[in-house]
Amino acid sequence: MLILVEHPLCAVDLTVVRDQGSDHTAFRAAMQRIGLHVCLQATRHLPVEPVAVETPLEQTTGYRLYHRIVAVPILRAGLLFLDPMLQVVPTAYVGFIGLRRQEDTLQVEHYYWRMPPLDERTAVVVLDPMLATGGSATAALLQLMQAGAQEITIACAIAAPEGVERIATMFPAVRIVAAALDRQLNAHGFIVPGLGDAGDRAFGTE
Ligand code: PRP
Repeated sequence: MLILVEHPLCAVDLTVVRDQGSDHTAFRAAMQRIGLHVCLQATRHLPVEPVAVETPLEQTTGYRLYHRIVAVPILRAGLLFLDPMLQVVPTAYVGFIGLRRQEDTLQVEHYYWRMPPLDERTAVVVLDPMLATGGSATAALLQLMQAGAQEITIACAIAAPEGVERIATMFPAVRIVAAALDRQLNAHGFIVPGLGDAGDRAFGTE
């Protein structure tokens, strides 16, 4: 299931991150603002349960989240969405997955895993600005499900149809929230029109 954020401010910031003339400062700031929209949308479906609350005037009904939220940034670029996610859900726990896509083979190399407990009352939001072939997301989802995650949403800035199709086929219960669905992957596995390599642009590597 793909859910697209539709908001004029998000469209403006997508333009900033797509622009090859945006430096790392502008890129990071715009990506974090996109993250606010995407993370808000990625938590919209979560169920709540009623709780009694005393206002200064009387008792009324309030709500609390049913799930414990675990935000999972995929290193490195996913770190760009961590602050926005914690602004949206200050009580979230945080797990880290380190994955690197080999640029020549597009195969995924695992290099880090550190995760809070996951069970049927956990809602995981995977943070990664780019969903290209879906190889990294697939690797992350397999690890997360093996560790006990059941309710999972992927929050990204830009998705390619090929990656969305792969996740939808392999993991039909996983939601994907994106700010944009781009046209396709090019011969090198880059999203086009895209924005280049989010990690390199945000952190100054090449
Ligand atoms: C990029 C991006 C995703 C992945 C997307 O990360 O941030 O994690 O590639 O590609 P895929 O859908 O084809 O797997 P990269 O491996 O370049 O690491 P980085 O974040 O450290 O730059």
